[in-house]
This record gives sequence, structure tokens and C-alpha cells, in this order.
Amino acid sequence: MIISPIACSYPNPVFQSIRSRTYDELGRVLNCNYTNFNREDMNWKNLAKFLDKRFQDQKRVRINFAGCSDGSEPYTLAIYLIKTLGNKSAKFFPIEASDISPDMVEAAKSGVIFLHDRDLKFIKEMGMSYSFCRDSEVKIMRDIPFYKHYVNEPLRSSVTFSVSDVRKMAEEGDFSNRVFVFRNGWTFNSLEDQNSISKNLYKNSNEKTLVIIGQSDLFKSAASDYLQMYGFRGLDNGIFTGAETNYPSVSIGQPSWKPIYPQYILFKKGIR
Ligand SMILES: C[S@@+](CC[C@H](N)C(=O)[O-])C[C@H]1O[C@@H](n2cnc3c(N)ncnc32)[C@H](O)[C@@H]1O
Repeated sequence: MIISPIACSYPNPVFQSIRSRTYDELGRVLNCNYTNFNREDMNWKNLAKFLDKRFQDQKRVRINFAGCSDGSEPYTLAIYLIKTLGNKSAKFFPIEASDISPDMVEAAKSGVIFLHDRDLKFIKEMGMSYSFCRDSEVKIMRDIPFYKHYVNEPLRSSVTFSVSDVRKMAEEGDFSNRVFVFRNGWTFNSLEDQNSISKNLYKNSNEKTLVIIGQSDLFKSAASDYLQMYGFRGLDNGIFTGAETNYPSVSIGQPSWKPIYPQYILFKKGIR
């Protein structure tokens, strides 16, 4: 059923979600906003359980979700936290999502999100269809139809959005007792920047801090090696599935070597 935008309690948005990919003169990807709900490289339910256990002694847990694109991933985590932990999920909200792209953030802040069939299937299976209100607009991206939706309360309030460059964030933030997520965006930053991000994250973390990267960061950036070089250690806990498709594109921050430990996308400070 298509609900008219008037049925939604949102004004007509000025901005539209745009998932773009830009290239440099050598044909390497400079930046890319592609994202999905429920990305397959992680067992999100296990992640929710793991976060519950790891932070059971904390009343409030801040989650920084850098490189959030249109919000598909932080909303995925919010949905799994709600469905897996029930009332216990409240201490993780709001998830603090951010991205370097002002356009993506403006759209996400206005409550607009473009969803494709797979996103909608996931949302339905999770029993969360009531959290999204469909508009009539359809956009074709990568030959796939994306349907414009508005995110309804209370899900919408479970994620806040702001513009932020992860390079600056890692340098200036304090990630003690927090979860720092930056997934599938490392490769759009130079190797030098990846090195500084890792160094600063380590400097600004404590033994409770959790850092999460994505499968494409593991194989298309030096995030895993640099994080471990500075003292983070991989966690083997049934969360990384390795099930994501490997896209053949080459990006500006792609190293010439393979990761030393190809089995970790979650990291904590100190010993394993
Ligand atoms: C491929 S998307 C991934 C989105 C989502 N995390 C996911 O895994 O589906 C990468 C996102 O990282 C963002 N990004 C890249 N470099 C960044 C930086 N230095 N600071 C903040 N965001 C950045 C891009 O703008 C883009 O939206």
C-alpha cells in the first residue's frame, strides 16, 4: 500500500537521498555513499547481544556511527538492539551517526530514506514496517528502484545525525567506554589518514572501547593492520560472517598488501 506524504507527519523535504560514487583522474573511487540495511558481513543479532554483555555495568553507552551515509546502518543497529534487548536497549540511544557528506546528513536529518526491495523485506521480517511511511517518489540507482520513505517516531529519534569528518573526530573525540563504528569508508581515505585515524582512536580510547569496521575495510583498506599496529586486538566472537560480496572497484586508500589477520572486524584495546 502506498501512503500519501500527507498521511506522514513530515513536511515536504528539501533534500533527497543521493547515493553517489565519485572517481579521481585514474579511475579510482574517491568516495561512495552506497549502503544497505542489514549488511551481510555482520551477524547483527549477535552484535546486539555482545554489546549488552560487554556494557552490562554501564547505565549509558554512546555509539558513534561515523560514515553513516543515509542512515541505513545505524537504523539497522537500532532495530536489532530494540528487537533483541527490548527495554534494555534504551541505554544505547540515541546512536550518534555522522558522515562527511552534508547532503547525506541533511536528507537523513529530514527523516527521508530511499529503500529498495531487500531493505523492505528485512524491515518487514523484523516487524518494523510501521516505522517507515512510503511516499510516491521512486529513484532508479544502480538499475534498482528505490522507494522514498519517511522514518517514523520513535525509531527516528533513536539515531541523531551530524556532519563530521572521521579524521577530525578520531583526533578530538574521547571514545572511552564507547562503541566507535566506521564501516566501509576507510578505503576512501588515504593510507596516511587511515594510519592517523587508527593512532588517534587508540590514544583516545580505554579498555572498554570497541571499534568496528566493515568487510570492505578489512580487504580494501589498511584499517585492520593499522588498528592492530597501534595496540587494538581483534575479537573473535561470532559477529563477523565474511558473507559480503567483494566489489571489484579500486579506491584511493587501497593498500597493495592483504591484511595480516583477515578474521577480525571488531577490535578492543590490549590483549585478545
Ligand atoms: C560506502 S559508504 C558506507 C556506509 C555504511 N557505513 C555502510 O557500511 O553501509 C561510506 C561512507 O563513508 C563516508 N566517509 C568517507 N570518508 C569519510 C570521512 N573521512 N569522514 C566521515 N565520513 C566519511 C562517505 O561519505 C560514505 O557515506
